[in-house]
Amino acid sequence: MTLEEAKQKLQDIKQEQLLQFYETLDENQKSNLLSQIDETDFSVLKHLSTVGKGTEKGEFSPLKAMQLDEIERRKDEFYTAGVQAIKEGRTAALLLAGGMGTRLGSDNPKGMYNIGITKEVYIFQRIIENLLDVVKETDTWIRLFIMTSEKNHDATVSFLKEKDYFGYREDRIVFFKQDMAPACDYNGKVYLEEPGRIATSPNGNAGWYSSMVRAGLDQILTKEGIEWIDVFAVDNVLQRICDPCFVGATVLSNVSVGAKVVKKAAPDEKVGVICLEDGRPSIVEYYELSQDMMDAKDDQGEPAYNYGVILNYLFHVPELAEVTDDKMAYHVVEKKIPYVDEKGQKVKPSEPNGYKFEQLVLDMIHQLDSCLPYEVVREKEFAPVKNPTGIDSVESARSLCQKNHIEL
Ligand code: UTP
Repeated sequence: MTLEEAKQKLQDIKQEQLLQFYETLDENQKSNLLSQIDETDFSVLKHLSTVGKGTEKGEFSPLKAMQLDEIERRKDEFYTAGVQAIKEGRTAALLLAGGMGTRLGSDNPKGMYNIGITKEVYIFQRIIENLLDVVKETDTWIRLFIMTSEKNHDATVSFLKEKDYFGYREDRIVFFKQDMAPACDYNGKVYLEEPGRIATSPNGNAGWYSSMVRAGLDQILTKEGIEWIDVFAVDNVLQRICDPCFVGATVLSNVSVGAKVVKKAAPDEKVGVICLEDGRPSIVEYYELSQDMMDAKDDQGEPAYNYGVILNYLFHVPELAEVTDDKMAYHVVEKKIPYVDEKGQKVKPSEPNGYKFEQLVLDMIHQLDSCLPYEVVREKEFAPVKNPTGIDSVESARSLCQKNHIEL
C-alpha cells in the first residue's frame, strides 16, 4: 500500500492519527506501518456503537446438565467409549493461550507464571502434566494444538522448548497464532503502540477455529481423523483435559459439543450459565441473568439455571464448519492498552484506557445445535488463575492445588 492509499483509507474511517509519526520513521518502519494499515480490519470499530447497550437476547429456557450421580452410574460405559475415541486418535486437545493475561500483571505469557512455593510449578507445566495423565492411562500421545498470539508466540514457544515441553512429545504439538484486532481509546481512535505500529490485541478466544483453518491445520484434522477437540483455557491449573469419561459421555450423547460445568456456588455467582436461548444451547452471562431466572426451579425443586461453564468444551469437528465469525457478536471490552502519547513516548497505563474487540468461545456454542453440559466437581477441576490475589487468583489456585495433593 502506498502512503497516499494509506492516507485515503484512514481518512475514510477518521483514523489519520495513525500516520502522525510517519515522517520520523526509517524506511523499514514506514513500509511495515503501511502494510499493517493495509492488513488491519478496522471494521470491528463499528461495534463501538454497542457499548453500554448490551446485545439483543432471545428467550431463555433451562438446559439440563448431566449430573455427577448419572456420571458415576454410567462411568464404565463412558470410560470405555472415551478411551476408544482417544486410542483411535479421534480426540485432540487445544490450549487457548493467546490471551494477554493483563489482570495477572505479568509481561510474560500466562502459562509461564510460576505458582510454585517450594519449587517451580508453571501453569503450562500443570496443564501438560494433567494431559500426560491421560496419555499414560490410554497409552496414546494425544495431538495437542497450542494457540498463541503475535504478542506471546515467540516467548511461549521458546519457554516450552527450553522446558522440554514438560515431558510432552514435541512432534505431537502444533503451535498456531490467532488473529489480531485494533485497540482504541474511549473516543474510538485507534492507538499506536509504537510510533510505527498500530496497537492490536488478540481478537478473543473464539478466534481459535478460523485461525486454525487459516493456518491450514484443518488438514491435520482430516489426515489424522480427528473428530473431537477439547478446547480449554490456559489458566485453570486443575484442568482435566480429554479425560475419558467426559469424552465418552459427549460422544455417546451425539451432541455437537460437550461443556464442562460446575454447580453454582450461589444464585448470583459471577459465572456464565448454560441454558437454551430460542431453543439452541447458549451461555447467559451472570449480569444478564434476571431475578426470575435466578429464582426459577426445575422439577426436582433445584435452581433451573444452576450450572456455570469453566471454559472446557469438547467440540465435534464436522459441525465446526457451520460456525462462522460474522454470525458471532463482538464484545467490546475495557482494558489497559499500552500506547505512545503525542510526544511519541510509550505509556503503560495502570487503569483501563480504551477498548479491545473480542469474539468469545461461549458465543460459538449458540451456533451449534446441541450441547451436553457435563458436571464436574469444582474443587477438583476448577482453579482459574486470573488475578494475583483474591478471587480466582494465584492464592486461591494454590490452595486448591494443595487440597488436591499437588506439591507446590
Ligand atoms: P481471559 O478471558 O481470562 O483473557 O481468557 P486473558 O486475555 O487471558 O486475560 P485478561 O482478561 O487480560 O486478564 C480466557 C482464556 O482464553 C484465552 C486465554 O489465554 C485464556 O486461556 N484467550 C483469550 C485467547 O486464547 N485469546 C484471546 O484473544 C483471549
